[in-house]
Amino acid sequence: MRLKQHVIWGQRGSFILAATGSAVGLGNIWKFPYITGENGGGAFVLMYLLFVATIGIPIMMAEILMGRRARANPIIATQELCEQAGAHKAWSGLGWMGVLAGLMILSFYTVIAGWTLEYSLLAIEGKFTGLDGDASNALFNSLLADSGKVLQWHTVFTLMTIAILALGVTRGLEASVRWMMPLLFLLLFVLLGYAIKEGDFETSLRFMFSFKLEDMSWEGALVAMGHSFFTLSLGMGAIMAYGSYMPSNQSVGSTVLIVATLDTLVALIVGVAIFAFVFATPGISPGAGPGLMFVTLPVAFGNMGVGAIIGTVFFVMVVLAAWTSTISLLEPGVAYLNERFGVSRIIASLLLGFIAWALGLGSVYSFNDWADVQILWGKNFFDSMDFVATNIMLPLGGMLIALFVGWKLRDEIILHDLKFEAAWIFRLWRPVLKYLSPIAVLLFLINGIFPVMRKVFVE
Ligand code: PFF
Repeated sequence: MRLKQHVIWGQRGSFILAATGSAVGLGNIWKFPYITGENGGGAFVLMYLLFVATIGIPIMMAEILMGRRARANPIIATQELCEQAGAHKAWSGLGWMGVLAGLMILSFYTVIAGWTLEYSLLAIEGKFTGLDGDASNALFNSLLADSGKVLQWHTVFTLMTIAILALGVTRGLEASVRWMMPLLFLLLFVLLGYAIKEGDFETSLRFMFSFKLEDMSWEGALVAMGHSFFTLSLGMGAIMAYGSYMPSNQSVGSTVLIVATLDTLVALIVGVAIFAFVFATPGISPGAGPGLMFVTLPVAFGNMGVGAIIGTVFFVMVVLAAWTSTISLLEPGVAYLNERFGVSRIIASLLLGFIAWALGLGSVYSFNDWADVQILWGKNFFDSMDFVATNIMLPLGGMLIALFVGWKLRDEIILHDLKFEAAWIFRLWRPVLKYLSPIAVLLFLINGIFPVMRKVFVE
């Protein structure tokens, strides 16, 4: 049941822009390099690329299809599609789990996005000039220790997210992504050029693209799989919510290929550049953890001729990239409250934004006052939240989406909704969705989670 009907985006490019805006974010620029560093480099990159191709792309198509068919937010969409497919109501739990995962991810995402606000200011003030590895570490640690400041930026970023959602997704989003993506790529190439010239580019390439079998682990594979969902914004309904605004005559397959390619390119370029600087800077190691980008890039910017300007523009871009992602984390819930109960978008975004903000307090203090407090499996609050939402809830949500579209939606429905697809895409996609994607997710979920648990119980 719903009180309000949906609008459809006018321009063809809008979905691509919005989905790319959602996909490209801190996941590519901040997270991908540091988890690659923590999980052995090349082996991790290879697994991540395989997961994007075999699980991410097919599931993204499925999510768009569901959203576009139902033209509703993910909770109502799954409920209505269950009715159309004659499937058990329990499937609609999918939508609820997605909204919950979105709130959990948003809660720590705005904390990290808050760091990027602080770093934009530091760049503007020229604080990176002449930094070396140790000084950069010290600068970052002084921010983390200042929980008041981290809290302040977390609050600001949450309010920024609420503001755009209250305005409505199109107005704020389209305008920013349209100029942001070209500029982001331009800057990334500048950064890459500088990394080739000044960094240890060869070691970086070797680290990212040569892999040793002994570097592979089940836990690393689980993190790579979770990240393929995280980076493409899958498994929680964000892309489903955006798909619900997509015109019916647009090809889903080619759109998904564009979004996934852009997203992967950004991650790989940032990764190669960051590791080139890491290997050229004493005092910084690939396994530095969540601070990797924040300690590495200021050293690079601080020693470039025009580094103050490039550094400023770069961090502002990261803020924008994060912003277009946080919006999509909250959109499913906001659209649900609005369409189901007629709650205004302003009230709905304030309410859900507040819940995510409050949950985020645990992550604010994970880097200082509560650094030693272990929540799950020996992990602090921030790591626990990320692990459960990213590595368990997103893959689980994605697997259920694959199973639902693969097995429950009738052929006529799918054929009708995907009539603009190239035949080969369609023929390849359905079996992958039915068998390969769900089996792979299940395999890596089970093998990835048990060792983590066993470690804790045995120790
Ligand atoms: N894809 C975003 C990133 O890589 O930063 C994060 C994200 C956005 C995850 C939206 C999930 C989501 F629904």
